[in-house]
Amino acid sequence: MTNSVPPSSSGSSSTTGRSLAGKRILLIVGGGIAAYKALDLVRRLRERGARVRVVMTAAARQFVTELSFVSLSGERVFDDLFSPTDEGAMGHIELSRDADLLVVAPATAHLLARMARGFADDLATTLLLATDKRVLVAPAMNVRMWLHPATQRNVAALHADGVYFVGPAAGDMACGEFGPGRMSEPLDIVAAIETALQGDTRLPLPAGLHGRTPAPARSLAGRHVIVTSGPTHESIDPVRYLANRSSGKQGHAIAAAAAAAGARVTLIAGPVALADPPGVEVRHVETARDMLEACEAALPADIFVSAAAVADWRVDVSASKVKKQPSGAPPTLVLRENPDIVARIGARKEGRPTLVVGFAAETNDLIANARAKLERKRCDLMVANDVSVDSGVLGGEANEVHLVSARGVETWPRQDKSKVAAMLIERLAEQLRRRQGAAGEPPIAEERQ
Ligand code: PMT
Repeated sequence: MTNSVPPSSSGSSSTTGRSLAGKRILLIVGGGIAAYKALDLVRRLRERGARVRVVMTAAARQFVTELSFVSLSGERVFDDLFSPTDEGAMGHIELSRDADLLVVAPATAHLLARMARGFADDLATTLLLATDKRVLVAPAMNVRMWLHPATQRNVAALHADGVYFVGPAAGDMACGEFGPGRMSEPLDIVAAIETALQGDTRLPLPAGLHGRTPAPARSLAGRHVIVTSGPTHESIDPVRYLANRSSGKQGHAIAAAAAAAGARVTLIAGPVALADPPGVEVRHVETARDMLEACEAALPADIFVSAAAVADWRVDVSASKVKKQPSGAPPTLVLRENPDIVARIGARKEGRPTLVVGFAAETNDLIANARAKLERKRCDLMVANDVSVDSGVLGGEANEVHLVSARGVETWPRQDKSKVAAMLIERLAEQLRRRQGAAGEPPIAEERQ
């Protein structure tokens, strides 16, 4: 299937400007655990100036209360197809036609199936069938339900009918499984709403639609991803060097996840004791300056992920082994600042990757320091992690990361580094689709000014 990639409406969901002033959104809330996020969605839409009317399915009432939606939307909630008072005041046809956009969030497997078959057996499905407006759905369900051919057939049918999709995202699910099926975050849905309201271009097919391949298997097909990983070693003399405790586990896992998502991957690896990930082109380097050279040689790329613990300083190298002095005086090491690789890539006027992602390794003031690095190094995203000894992150198997961007901060639970990598890659693939699909959208560096 051919689908144009969506124009993001400028990432305006990152701000609380009144980007939706005067817009009327009819939000249909399905019955899933993600229904609680629909409350936040209402809040975000209202902040942006939209009028939000909420329709709840009977199942939605099992998860969230009508009162919450009434309080947040400032409007009564609709749910009854056969209400004589509602029909008198505003028929269900008017309810859907009075909106600029219908949004279904969360869209459960059952609701998608009813939509795909054209059912009209409750108010929600009747409105969806009666509307002449665009419909955007945010699926949310268990990963197996999402990957089931029946759901994928239904999604394909809806997509062919012109229904817009946002998500689902991949990640840990309430049911304890991992994979695609999680409802997109409210701000991502807001961005998709802005896009859907903007024009007639089609939002992309949800990830994982073709066949039973999970989303990560295709989401970066045709893309080039550069990842740096591991420490750098900075020689002091022919036998000694300065180093750090990075094992390369996080960076290598990101390279492997990008390859699994179909990308061509160049991994620039400092000295590590890990095997090269399969399907990845690996350049082994030793120093920060080698790493910079290898990164620049590997460009152009769509995504640059700087997970390496690059030494900030190098030493003026002695050509021969530094000897102890008979006087017992310690040798003097003169440190010089290394080039900042990610900052250089982020600041490129030409050939800047669409997404430049740094990692902030901190032992204190994690988020504040990460924010400062995001700006200073001109990254689109800074993944902050705590590298104090107690965290066990450096060299360990697990990581707890905080995604710091101009939009805000999102914290992921502590999990295996391969899960962090898979979720990060899926998130980057989603952002890339939005940015590269936005014809004429200015480069990120310009956007910031
Ligand atoms: O390798 P593991 O044992 O799995 O551990 C993973 C990790 C903790 C090393 C990784 O998750 C991580 O945090 N990597 C970044 C380490 C680091 O150098 O952080 P920093 O805060 O000092 O630097 C910020 C960013 O600038 C990083 O993206 C870094 O790659 C980059 N940088 C730093 C200095 C420099 N000269 N050039 C750079 O590109």
